[in-house]
Amino acid sequence: MNNFIFQNPTRLIFGKGMIAQLPNEIPAEKNIMITFGGGSVKKNGIYDQVMEALKGYKTTEFWGIEPNPSIETLRKAIELGKEKKIDFLLAVGGGSVLDGTKLISAGLLYDGDAWDLVKKGSSTETIPMGTVLTIPATGSEMNNGAVISRHETSEKYPFYSCYPVFSILDPTVTFSLPPYQIACGMADTFVHVMEQYMTKTNQSRVMDRWAEGILMMLTTIAPLIKENPQDYDLMSQFMLGATMGLNGFIGMGVPQDWATHMIGHELTALKGITHGASLAIVYPGMLRTLFEKKHDKLLQYGERVWGISTGLPDSRAHMAIDKTEEFFRSLGLATHLSEAGIGDDVIDEIERRFNERHAAYGEDGDVTGAVARQILLNCK
Ligand code: NZQ
Ligand code: ZN
Repeated sequence: MNNFIFQNPTRLIFGKGMIAQLPNEIPAEKNIMITFGGGSVKKNGIYDQVMEALKGYKTTEFWGIEPNPSIETLRKAIELGKEKKIDFLLAVGGGSVLDGTKLISAGLLYDGDAWDLVKKGSSTETIPMGTVLTIPATGSEMNNGAVISRHETSEKYPFYSCYPVFSILDPTVTFSLPPYQIACGMADTFVHVMEQYMTKTNQSRVMDRWAEGILMMLTTIAPLIKENPQDYDLMSQFMLGATMGLNGFIGMGVPQDWATHMIGHELTALKGITHGASLAIVYPGMLRTLFEKKHDKLLQYGERVWGISTGLPDSRAHMAIDKTEEFFRSLGLATHLSEAGIGDDVIDEIERRFNERHAAYGEDGDVTGAVARQILLNCK
């Protein structure tokens, strides 16, 4: 096991009716900016619950943080926040609203253009933020990551800043989610776990079993949720599982991959593919390309998560990849570039971008532009 330092300061507030806890979490004197997406919270009653809980607080609303939050939109929020002298942020929405608010949190204390911070990759100077999460997927509610896009240049990069001080997770808020967003959230959670697990064997039994537990939970509940997306218990499992998938708990002391995410971000930046959908396309092709080096972990994964215990090792490892792809397809997601209308021009551009930035992703730092090309060719 590698050395590590672990600390996660986010207070998790979980369950039905818990949005009413907001006044217990935000000091009364705070000057709050509440950030929102495109309006789903107005239709499903979450907006009303938040505003009811914050009656008497000084609040400013900022609307319109879009999926894959853009610097162009966030600059406007930062300008408004500076003007209003905001000293607390409350993000109400999905990963995009939360991520965008993490950049606002740093941008409010920065004199220059917030895109500088994204290019730098991180900022620890931030004002506090809390969240009311409306979609299980990214883990942004309990980590310090964000992914910010720039539309004018079709770019999308990770950025690290503050952990939310608190996050409220009420599973009933998921009842209004469209099936496609549930599917993308499941694929995202699944791949988050795999990025931290599908590397090398014999690193950490604790982390392996924890990761396998989340994967098995997902494969069990996915078909049940498809049948009954308003089942409180099932959506609670999904919501907590998504948080646990990317809050650092399953990544302690183990090598991590993340090459699929970096390639997926390019598909989103260049072609607007929804994040979880981009991962479902790239992940099976990535496993097939890096089959040799992931072979032993694939055997472990196949046996423990999918019960594949007979046959020759190579065929078992291939079967584990096939099962993974079938899982994404069972969610209703595409697993090939051609299904998303993505052609060779995009593969060329991703290779060019990776080469330009001297990319070296994956647990061994060997996913370069040329390897990314090979992966994408195997996703056709
Ligand atoms: O904008 P509104 O109107 O609210 O609609 C949203 C949006 O259209 C809708 N939605 C959210 N909650 C809803 C709902 N509709 C009905 N009922 C609800 N309860 O869903 C759509 C998608 O929302 P979005 O926030 O974009 O989804 P998600 O949570 O999947 O976030 C995706 C973003 O997070 C980044 C992705 O790259 C992408 O930009 N990620 C962030 C990570 C992190 N911070 O650690 C890690 C992830 O790997 C990921 O990269
Ligand atoms: Zn993700």
